[in-house]
Amino acid sequence: MNKHLRCVFLCFVLSTALSAHAADKKVDPYLRPIPVPYPADNMPTPERIELGKMLFFDPRLSGSEWISCGTCHNPALAWTDGLPAMLGNGMAKGLRSTPTILNTAYNQMQFWDGRAKTLEEQALGPIQAPGEMNSQDMDDLVKRLNTIEGYRKTFDKAYPNEGINPQTIAKAISSFERTVVSTEAPFDKWRKGDKNAISVSAQRGFDLFTGKANCTECHQGFNFADDGFHNIGLPVSEMEDVGRFAHRKIKVNKGAFKTPTLRDVALTAPYMHNGVYKTLAEVVEHYNKGGVNMENLDPNLKPLHLNDQEKADIVAFLLSLTGKPMEMTIPHLPPMDQ
Ligand code: HEC
Ligand code: HEC
Repeated sequence: MNKHLRCVFLCFVLSTALSAHAADKKVDPYLRPIPVPYPADNMPTPERIELGKMLFFDPRLSGSEWISCGTCHNPALAWTDGLPAMLGNGMAKGLRSTPTILNTAYNQMQFWDGRAKTLEEQALGPIQAPGEMNSQDMDDLVKRLNTIEGYRKTFDKAYPNEGINPQTIAKAISSFERTVVSTEAPFDKWRKGDKNAISVSAQRGFDLFTGKANCTECHQGFNFADDGFHNIGLPVSEMEDVGRFAHRKIKVNKGAFKTPTLRDVALTAPYMHNGVYKTLAEVVEHYNKGGVNMENLDPNLKPLHLNDQEKADIVAFLLSLTGKPMEMTIPHLPPMDQ
């Protein structure tokens, strides 16, 4: 390459790199990326989403035929159940609280302990789990759905020639879940330049959240999560729960749980995997102390020495992350064949 050409080439590389950098700068990491990611073999079509929505709200997917995904992930409660620990099949109390399914499409890991990677992989878990929906025999469930003409038709439209099987059930439910995403909250309006969209207290709270209080060590980006697992030193609950450690036996994972989203957090109480805190003020007090149970505590948790105003500011900021509920109509479920 002669000298002149080399210069042109270098200038070109440099200028594209610079303009790419400038374009990067425009993307606000706190605003939700659109479109929602989905796997190559399950493009969300309107037919798949509609079918998934029916299945999500249909109690006939459970062994007892009275419990649906929507029983625990209730849209009226920001897709959770308002309980410290889930109530499953036969009203049996489960080990953990029900997380919201808001923005789970963006998660790299599903469940408090990350034991499933994709939504497709996750969906069949609760249907079969004896403590949850208790449809242990999937062949039975497939037969049951096949007796309903409305489902035979809808599956055929959504997944032509694939039929009703565990894979198409999981794919349809996942397609619906990918539509359950956070809406614009006052915080987002503020990020976009509306100076009065959140209070001055909430603005100070954001500075604390990203600064002195060190919350962004784990609660990052638009979803305020990091797909990581941390032991944040919660008070020990009646039932021992080792969290991530059950799946990856390394010491840091003992008592470590997945960082949850903080979107719509005003509505997802009680908080934490064991529902130990009822209010956001209690949560902030927990972090202010730097944790309660110090065994295997994440090194990023330290006493924060926040004064009352600062604690109130963080709560005000957290409240600004809750948007209007997404628009959704509850589907009519296909009736049994007559
Ligand atoms: C009996 C209550 C109950 C039912 C019914 C239920 N879930 Fe859940 N769901 C939970 C609980 C509790 C967890 C957390 C469990 C854990 O982490 O060990 C969870 C976790 C999840 C997650 C992971 C979210 C995250 O951020 O990690 C998704 C997604 C999910 N459920 C979807 C579904 C779908 C789809 C159905 C129906 C097929 C369903 N759930 C039925 C209680 C329930
Ligand atoms: C070391 C990582 C880490 C840091 C730092 C951190 N968090 Fe968390 N946060 C987590 C994890 C992990 C959980 C879930 C813990 C569990 O249930 O065992 C959580 C849970 C929460 C919850 C409960 C959400 C729900 O729906 O249950 C809130 C609210 C919260 N954090 C706010 C904050 C605030 C505010 C700060 C800063 C003062 C902060 N976090 C700092 C990792 C962290």
